Amino acid sequence: MRTHDCGALTSADVGAEVVVAGWAHRRRDHGGVIFLDVRDHTGIVQVVFHPDAQESFAVADRVRNEYVLQARGRVRPRPEGMVNPELATGEVEVLGASLQVLNAAETPPFQLDEHSSAGDDVRLKHRYLDLRRPLMQERLRLRARVASHVRRYLEGEGFLEVETPTLTRATPEGARDYLVPSRTHPGAFFALPQSPQIFKQLLMAGGVDRYYQIARCYRDEDLRADRQPEFTQIDIEASFVTAADVMQLTEGMLRSLFQTALHVELPPFERLTWAEAMRRFGSDKPELRNPLELIDVDDLVATAGFKVFAAPANDPGGRVAALKAPGAAAALSRKALDDYQTFVGRHGAKGLAYIKVNDRGQGMDGLQSPIIKFLDAATVEAVLDRAGAQTGDIVFFGADKRAVVNEALGALRLQLGRDLGLTRPGWAPLWVTDWPMFETARDGSLAPAHHPFTQPACSTERLLAEPAAALANAYDVVLNGCELGGGSIRIHESAMQRKVFEALNIGQEAEVKFGHLLDALQHGCPPHGGVALGLDRLVMLMAGADSVRDVIAFPKTQTAHCLLTDAPAPVDAEQLRELHIRLRGS
Ligand code: AMO
Ligand code: AMP
Repeated sequence: MRTHDCGALTSADVGAEVVVAGWAHRRRDHGGVIFLDVRDHTGIVQVVFHPDAQESFAVADRVRNEYVLQARGRVRPRPEGMVNPELATGEVEVLGASLQVLNAAETPPFQLDEHSSAGDDVRLKHRYLDLRRPLMQERLRLRARVASHVRRYLEGEGFLEVETPTLTRATPEGARDYLVPSRTHPGAFFALPQSPQIFKQLLMAGGVDRYYQIARCYRDEDLRADRQPEFTQIDIEASFVTAADVMQLTEGMLRSLFQTALHVELPPFERLTWAEAMRRFGSDKPELRNPLELIDVDDLVATAGFKVFAAPANDPGGRVAALKAPGAAAALSRKALDDYQTFVGRHGAKGLAYIKVNDRGQGMDGLQSPIIKFLDAATVEAVLDRAGAQTGDIVFFGADKRAVVNEALGALRLQLGRDLGLTRPGWAPLWVTDWPMFETARDGSLAPAHHPFTQPACSTERLLAEPAAALANAYDVVLNGCELGGGSIRIHESAMQRKVFEALNIGQEAEVKFGHLLDALQHGCPPHGGVALGLDRLVMLMAGADSVRDVIAFPKTQTAHCLLTDAPAPVDAEQLRELHIRLRGS
């Protein structure tokens, strides 16, 4: 139906008779001459219709935005002064000889250009229109390039793509499961996988040696900008490997991907232990392009009369930390300081103490602060010294349980980085290693920090003696403050796996749920480990998008609703009966 793509026409085609097909992007009527911008997936070309070509002019006259067109004509240079340098085809136009409307279109509910200010809801409801926008087309192409590069890279490294079931038993990754009722087994349910974790380990037991899959995962959890209920992992597992091997492979893959897809040379991946990341940045996924760091001052304020600081400073589970915002005294108004107080409140902090350094040379007189009246001059000096505070800086403080301070000051650090323009552009990849094996809930019970198949970095005895202190042979890869992926060396011996289930207090339950894995570990399972990267998050970062929604063709909303298809939807009574399901209240 066409000889050329719209975006492909250049001066080299001048004189050629061409047929293009696409959508009416814009129609302008200039004193009897009609200009149609015809758009396809490659770009836009201008087609001109003169009234002397009566028939095609009449068709052009009734064309409206988003009509689907086929136009025939001759390529010619644009007249002097009419060249459009913004457009790849801006030096030429097609003098239209004939025009056919292949399909009419209703007026689109929003404008299909880069500057579309349409809300997310209307864009998602008419996603097929949104996808026509060049920006979305480019994102889909980038996503495909990433997936294709990853496949090539991993296959080059000897990895075999294997598909794993999506109608399965629950694989625990810490979220709720999406369940699928079974018709043939009344009252029984499949779970959609939260990840292929168990199957990839079973593939190692099955002698596959090196597995990968671009795998769809399902998690019923609270959604945010970097989370969707169904998403895609670049899932990797290998036998007879160390953590260093997996990290090296992942780094190599990301490095070559960025070179190929973005022409970017990633800097060397930094390494931080989890403990160091929490101490310096208050986060297990630190944004290293932001230069601000949390500084412990517990020892300096432990004997101060100010209870807000002294109490957590003397609590082994507490923390008092300072965060210096350089040059912020002039940049931040009183109102901005109040807003930061509200901001940290949303992250659990009870307050936000600060010292504004108007003139460091003037001692206490040069400072402005709601808390220095509670502190003696020597303590204030010591704190300012440790923070390296100078005239013009503001030093913020967090004092509470360690987790609260880390969360609140970690978030404040990111916000200040943005507000003060301190976060540099570019790429900052790192590995966070030496994770704790478990997280302790308020009631003292343990939950896996990753998943329960992670190899502890200590002996079984130490694990059981002091589980909360045990570290794991696990690693996360973080890029620009985003958790891109995570992995670990796995437990490959059933005895150890049972001990971990025991520590988690799920011994009995695990025999039922994970008996197949325990069995496999008993039948000669090799040592193995792997990693999974979030493909959506990777493409989001590479595309400079704000949300994974922008790089998924048909995403869901914050409430896990597909506005386009209106899923999830009720089903009829007959279908429910077949599935042995009766709804409450029916
Ligand atoms: P984990 O749960 O850390 O590990 O997931 C790996 C990566 O998947 C991405 N991800 C998500 N992306 C979008 N929406 C979500 N809801 C979502 N949840 C996770 C993140 C995350 O880093 N089986 C293990 C991996 C392993 O141990 O090999 C796992 O799934 O980028
Ligand atoms: P208060 O004595 O509670 O009025 O607090 C005095 C100052 O300390 C105020 O500026 C509060 O914002 C700040 N503040 C109170 N609690 C905390 C806390 N847990 N961490 C940091 N600053 C706090």
